[in-house]
Amino acid sequence: MNVSRKRIFINAIKKFGTPIYLYEASQLRSSFFSLRESFPKEVDIFYSLKANPNITITDELRRLGAAAEVCSLIELKTAVQAGHSPENIIFVGPAKSKEELSLSIELGIYAIVCESFEEVERIEALAKIYNKPVSIAFRINPEFESKSAMLKMGGKPTQFGIDQAEFLSRFSSYVNRKNIICKGIHIYNGTRILDHGTVIENTQNILSFAEMLQQKFKIVFQMVDFGGGLGIAYHEGEPSLDLAALRQGISPIISSYLDKFPGTRLILESGRFLVGMSGTFISEIQFIKKSQGENFLVTDGGTNCHMAAVGIGSFVKRNFPISLLSQVSQETRSSEDHENYENHQTYNIAGPLCTPGDLIAKKVNLPEANVGDWVLVHHSGAYGPTASPVLFLSHGYPAEALIISEEAYLIRRPDVAGDLLGKQILISRNLNKQIDKLGVLS
Ligand SMILES: Cc1ncc(COP(=O)(O)O)c(C=O)c1O
Repeated sequence: MNVSRKRIFINAIKKFGTPIYLYEASQLRSSFFSLRESFPKEVDIFYSLKANPNITITDELRRLGAAAEVCSLIELKTAVQAGHSPENIIFVGPAKSKEELSLSIELGIYAIVCESFEEVERIEALAKIYNKPVSIAFRINPEFESKSAMLKMGGKPTQFGIDQAEFLSRFSSYVNRKNIICKGIHIYNGTRILDHGTVIENTQNILSFAEMLQQKFKIVFQMVDFGGGLGIAYHEGEPSLDLAALRQGISPIISSYLDKFPGTRLILESGRFLVGMSGTFISEIQFIKKSQGENFLVTDGGTNCHMAAVGIGSFVKRNFPISLLSQVSQETRSSEDHENYENHQTYNIAGPLCTPGDLIAKKVNLPEANVGDWVLVHHSGAYGPTASPVLFLSHGYPAEALIISEEAYLIRRPDVAGDLLGKQILISRNLNKQIDKLGVLS
């Protein structure tokens, strides 16, 4: 970490407090463009808001050129408020409510991605009420799978999409429905893929499948969403995706498809890759303890803010990259450069919860820490607070800030007592006495 970045971090921490997620606009930009350059320009990148639904982050990615993939009513509203035009929004997810479908129809988004034929029927009924045609795509659960994805989401029994065999047997009766425009198909096979060969093979499989469907059903797809699931390297020794090899392998596949089906909107969905590297989670060391020979840094933000650091979905739990930032010396000290320090130690890093599982890192080697130092968990921009139990022990949502150039801007204020208590309803004792005829409350 260079001196000016340290200074910006320290200023932001002092201004907004801890625990806090600090994002860097410069990293968002470089992640976006490295993805952009890895795929031919005809491929449209859709940002998956689930990875980080903050409205400013969504807006930043929109400005860079990403469209939006949403999965809930609020994600849909976030995308719209962040300035996305309906033409650049798709709605995915297995349990869309009537309210979510209705708003999607009212807005006229690019496609509602249907996860069952029953969902199509529901949309058709709504389309009649709105008296307007609705654009949809079919999410298919194919019989091929994504070999090296760390989390497989297709090619096996799942709540997502329509099984390939069922799709093939029923699709023809959905091709020419009056109020339904079938834009194409969507296949999302897995996530956290770090092997470029898997992305290439997966894309090839999906595009060949799309070609077969168009021939079989004598239809032309306007769009094919071939998923994505590109991962980032979190752990020591984990190789990053080889983007040059990805580009080299994917370009001829895309060109050959577009030669046969010119003008198709080819969609790549990405969340983690776009935002993961841009975020650092920061907590402050409140106490340092020794227990039965092990050292514990007890901080003000643990798994309640950053559950992903525990390694959800991975069999082997490994630490995210961690470093310390010292208030006094203003230096960062990470596990990589610990050899430069004489007094390094092995620490477990705990949060404020009353559960032994509240450890965001185990046995991490760091220079000697002091109370008041800050623990930095890097590569934390994806699946952070929104994928964590932020309400556990009523700690609430942490602050989020975005660094643009040299300045940090608050993009979400931390929850305060009013946010948490304001929604709760205290039933008055007197009222209870009247209701409680059996006297169990008194
Ligand atoms: C349908 C769909 N699209 C996009 C994503 C985003 O994945 P990632 O953050 O790995 O890019 C997911 C993640 O589970 C997903 O299920």
